Amino acid sequence: MSRSRLPVLLVLAVSLLVLASCQPLPVVVPVTTDPATSLYTIPFYDGANLVIDIAGPIVWSTCQRGHLPAKLPCKSETCKLANAYPVQGCRASGCGHDARKDRTSCTAYPYNPVTAACAAGSLVHTRFIANTTNGKNPVSQVSVRTLSACGTTKKLLASLPRGASGVAGLAGSGLALPAQVASSQKVAKKFLLCLPTGRANGDGVAIFGGSPLYLQYTGSLEYTESLQYTPLVARKDSPAHYVTVKYIAFENSRVPLPPRALATGGVVLSTTAPYTVLRPDVYRPFVAAFGKAVAAQWEYAQKPRQVKPVPPFGLCYDARTLSNTRLGYMVPRVTLALDSGKNWTMTGVNSMVNVKPGKACLAFVEMKAGDDGKAPAAVIIGVGGFQMENFVLQFDLEKKRFGFVKLPYYANCGHFNFTRSA
Ligand SMILES: *[C@@H]1O[C@H](CO)[C@@H](O)[C@H](O)[C@H]1NC(C)=O
Ligand SMILES: *[C@@H]1O[C@H](CO)[C@@H](O)[C@H](O)[C@H]1NC(C)=O
Ligand SMILES: *[C@@H]1O[C@H](CO)[C@@H](O)[C@H](O)[C@H]1NC(C)=O
Repeated sequence: MSRSRLPVLLVLAVSLLVLASCQPLPVVVPVTTDPATSLYTIPFYDGANLVIDIAGPIVWSTCQRGHLPAKLPCKSETCKLANAYPVQGCRASGCGHDARKDRTSCTAYPYNPVTAACAAGSLVHTRFIANTTNGKNPVSQVSVRTLSACGTTKKLLASLPRGASGVAGLAGSGLALPAQVASSQKVAKKFLLCLPTGRANGDGVAIFGGSPLYLQYTGSLEYTESLQYTPLVARKDSPAHYVTVKYIAFENSRVPLPPRALATGGVVLSTTAPYTVLRPDVYRPFVAAFGKAVAAQWEYAQKPRQVKPVPPFGLCYDARTLSNTRLGYMVPRVTLALDSGKNWTMTGVNSMVNVKPGKACLAFVEMKAGDDGKAPAAVIIGVGGFQMENFVLQFDLEKKRFGFVKLPYYANCGHFNFTRSA
């Protein structure tokens, strides 16, 4: 070996050692609930907050000065990834219109999940500014290279929270945020969500990359160890996250549903629907059975008094006639029995919502004709944000499984410690 090579080898060995000792850390951001829209937002880059849409295939925002065009040909792999799940009914023009432009201007389609507005946009280089984390605190600031679509029309932002400038898609597709953070930061393709209840309880937390999760005031409890899992079901026509529900039960009795009703479509998870929507053939028996189960629970005492339902809800009670507990109103627990044999069980905190002073309603709504058409494929149940709050949810896109665990009553998704450790 020549002498001049030795230092080079030494440097190489040392840098390999350094690399091995610094495992890439996952990335954390706070999650804020917007009380006006019940949507959740995360900070993305300076001054830009994006709505999180776990069914969204891309990241998009309104165009801003300083956005660098990605200049990708329409035929590139990345452009194909951006368009792997075409927005149904979106008639905005794009690639394939001008052969010269096709060589440098990939079109992607920002889509507003609330109004279903869409537009043609271009792909630009953006940076996701966040912090790395050890699962307990932020560690240091990172700037994650990302590609986003940028749209120029303001109508794309209608019905989104004030101050939001786009949508961060968290679906299973190649240009959704989890896949982009995974490839830029060399972390696992999975993410954790802990959605806060309202604003008063503080910001919730989203962590990209495999991570433990600790919350303040709960000693050294680590929540991902107690996750229960069920498979995530992939669909060809949709990048959203689906699970399979075998039956629905209140306490220990199954809700009588038409035969095979639950086998005729999917159960999709959604952060852009405030409450769980049920297809009418499931919703009606569900509400009837809940009413009966509430009455049966109070056989020997004064029964909770039903009041005129407040739309969009179909079953409401005089709140003074319900008992309140640390787990919310004392009503029969709602269980979604998943195909893994695990139960997703909700107590009053996740099943009853206070609407007007003195009125509490069953927080499930009937799917309207059109809701179903908007979804890419037949959907029986769209699990909404309210039903997911104060659960730790893990979407593992590598092992294709969904993990969930309800936080104990004394813990709260707003209790992540966002102070950097010294
Ligand atoms: C990173 O964490 C620090 C310390 O908590 C905080 O001040 C800063 O705003 C965080 N940065 C981002 C982009 O969230
Ligand atoms: C799931 O819930 C059903 C209905 O309440 C119950 O019969 C079953 O034992 C539960 N399974 C598990 C694993 O807890
Ligand atoms: C939050 O983290 C900081 C930094 O590690 C620590 O000093 C503080 O005590 C923590 N707060 C709580 C309530 O645990």
